[in-house]
Amino acid sequence: MKRTKIKALLNETTFGKEVTVMGWVKTFRNNQFIAINDGSSIQNIQAVVDFNHFEEALLKRLTTGAAIAVTGDLVESLGKGQSIEIKVKSLEILGDSDAEKFPLQPKKHSLEFLREIAHLRFRTNTFNAVFKVRHALAFAVHQFFNERGFTYLHTPIITASDAEGAGEMFKVTTLDFDNTPRNDDGTINFKEDFFGKATNLTVSGQLEGELAALALGDIYTFGPTFRAENSNTTRHLAEFWMIEPEMAFYDLENNMDLAEDLLKYVIRYALDQCAVELDFLKSRLEEEEKQKPQNERSELDLLSKLKFCLENDFERITYTEAIDILKQSKPNQKKQFKYLIESWGADLQSEHERYLVEKHFKKPVILTDYPKEIKAFYMRQNEDGKTVRAMDILFPGIGEIVGGSQREERLEKIEQRMAEMHIPAEEMSWYLDTRRFGSAPHAGFGLGFERLVLFVTGMTNIRDVIPFPRTPKNAEF
Ligand code: 4AD
Ligand code: MG
Repeated sequence: MKRTKIKALLNETTFGKEVTVMGWVKTFRNNQFIAINDGSSIQNIQAVVDFNHFEEALLKRLTTGAAIAVTGDLVESLGKGQSIEIKVKSLEILGDSDAEKFPLQPKKHSLEFLREIAHLRFRTNTFNAVFKVRHALAFAVHQFFNERGFTYLHTPIITASDAEGAGEMFKVTTLDFDNTPRNDDGTINFKEDFFGKATNLTVSGQLEGELAALALGDIYTFGPTFRAENSNTTRHLAEFWMIEPEMAFYDLENNMDLAEDLLKYVIRYALDQCAVELDFLKSRLEEEEKQKPQNERSELDLLSKLKFCLENDFERITYTEAIDILKQSKPNQKKQFKYLIESWGADLQSEHERYLVEKHFKKPVILTDYPKEIKAFYMRQNEDGKTVRAMDILFPGIGEIVGGSQREERLEKIEQRMAEMHIPAEEMSWYLDTRRFGSAPHAGFGLGFERLVLFVTGMTNIRDVIPFPRTPKNAEF
């Protein structure tokens, strides 16, 4: 089989040569004009058939969704909306599509409806654009780290540890649920299980990443992570992809600089490489926003928002400063927040994060030095005895996009914190060995890949930026 991709043809300026295109029919108008899309671009190519030269029975099969191959001459188009078209000499139906049953008609479908037919939604312009941008961002992530000499580390998906200590894990077992082996005290005997111990899907590759960083220097992971948190929101998935760099000889400042550089680099890459897709997504968002009341619409369009991010330094403030701002904020004073900020120590909800970013600073914000009570055991403790060297990056429309910290490298300090948090040190001796043998200052962070794609594409629901979303009560396809 030999074909030319439509994307390549759309930039063609020499006319007259014969080409073969294969793709899916978007529309067939006036028994003459076929709009064909092969996925290489969101733009279609127009193929023109002279209906006198083709069997009517064949033309009837040019229904939306059918796969076809056309061969013909590339000619200058006289019609509006395209500069070139194909004058069809031969036409073959590769796969019919029953017009009565094909769910994607040439009209606008709601994102909710498309989610129910996620196996077919790739055929729409919106999802073509989203997944092209997703690809570009993934590629840019690897390029960014590769240019800086980082090693891409594949951390395990099945593990026996709970890195975040939040207990939001999916169990991995081969035990027979109808006949589970029990210990004398009635608890399940995991010695009989596949791995001889209780295991789960990883919530983060960080702990293994630290082991490698304290030998290889700079590493990053980029893989699937799993959280059994029952959060049915537009920003949570049960299965999501995370990028976790971990660097030896880094403090929190270095960590923030790297995270900001990474975000700007990948956004710039998408702007450079996905101009057509982002332009389409900008218009899509504008249409969506028209449904909203004026005061809820964004001030900046998608492209301006992305450029704004590149041109401005992220605001860096401490958790304590953020609490002061929030306490005095209008929505707090007027009791408009669902969770009112009353005292230092409160965990920030997404309404607070979004207030800081969208209303107060109007740009990305990095919050540092959170209370130790609301953060994981591995974060470096500050001299004040109350806060840890944590950092969260908050983005407009998203809230938290990055979570990270400088790590506690002092053995006694981390052992003491683990004891306070009832984390069994014996099971983590492999992790603590890094602090026993040549411990060093180090830091890292996790960037939620779907939240990044959400931000760059201007989509509003995280379910629409991953091919097959896994959320509570939903694991279709
Ligand atoms: O803040 P989190 O839980 O941090 C960690 O897992 C650390 N181990 C990272 C590190 O320091 N190496 O998660 C990191 C990021 C969040 O900021 C968010 O962007 C994303 O992962 N994230 C989710 N994305 C989608 N669905 C969920 N349920 C998510 N939970 C976290
Ligand atoms: Mg977090």
